[in-house]
Amino acid sequence: MPLVTSKEILIDAQKHRYAVGAFNANNMEIVQAIVETAEEERAPVIVQASQGAIAYAGLDMIVGMVKTLAEKTFIPVVLHLDHGTDYYQNIKCLRAGFTSLMFDGSSLPFAENVTLTKKVVEMAHAVNIPVEAEIGQIGKMDSSDEPGVAREKIKEFMADPEEARKFVELTDIDSLAAAVGTIHGCREPIAQLDIPRIEKIRDLTGIPIVLHGASGASDEEVKKGIAAGICKVNIDTRIRMAFTRAIREYLNQNPNEIDPRKPLGVAKEAAKEVIRDRIRVLGSNNRV
Ligand code: G3H
Ligand code: ZN
Repeated sequence: MPLVTSKEILIDAQKHRYAVGAFNANNMEIVQAIVETAEEERAPVIVQASQGAIAYAGLDMIVGMVKTLAEKTFIPVVLHLDHGTDYYQNIKCLRAGFTSLMFDGSSLPFAENVTLTKKVVEMAHAVNIPVEAEIGQIGKMDSSDEPGVAREKIKEFMADPEEARKFVELTDIDSLAAAVGTIHGCREPIAQLDIPRIEKIRDLTGIPIVLHGASGASDEEVKKGIAAGICKVNIDTRIRMAFTRAIREYLNQNPNEIDPRKPLGVAKEAAKEVIRDRIRVLGSNNRV
């Protein structure tokens, strides 16, 4: 079927208390892994591309790959811009056929974040495309950071529920990325979600809440977060780790192999296992 917007699938998730997996894609094998696994699990799914992925693969290539696979499957597939910190990147993605945008103004002062988010929302809503935006700041972990350091970074910029309410009211966004206890790039499940904070944000805003940096959250934490109002769960690091580990192991075991399809093929299978496991934890399987 044609690409769908994130609005409809997140409202369904909110209503039935599960979360939709939003998986980051940088290349063909990962896009295939996401759509194939979601189809096998009968799960609605969000394929998301960051500005880095767009710079690497090219905007038209990403749109082409995702649209091609979406049109061949019966499951709903969304193409989403992840962390669009650049206003113009949002415009380019809208024009290129993305069916969901994110404006990330979390590093800006509140008033500027509101102004730019609002501009993106006005433009996107004119053609019925939903927008996610960020409140608080979901930081990034350096590979050398100890868990203690990561926890300190997390605490520093948690989303304020009252600010979240104001932000949603002023911008009319469709979903909210809120800093509620996770950090990007975390390779171990060390995150502790602030459940009362999530519940407060849910009650004050009423819109689907997005969990970023979810690779660092255990199954139990993710499930508690979903019960509290999380409807979209972003996963990148777990896929990266599985994908590159599979390539490394394959080439270590087969040092003379020159066919790139061999290591990339096993890497794709490794990515599929991570995606399948996450879809089941989110409870988005068997929803189509
Ligand atoms: O926006 C992308 C996500 O928040 C991914 O986070 O790399 O920690 O899985 P992660
Ligand atoms: Zn993120």
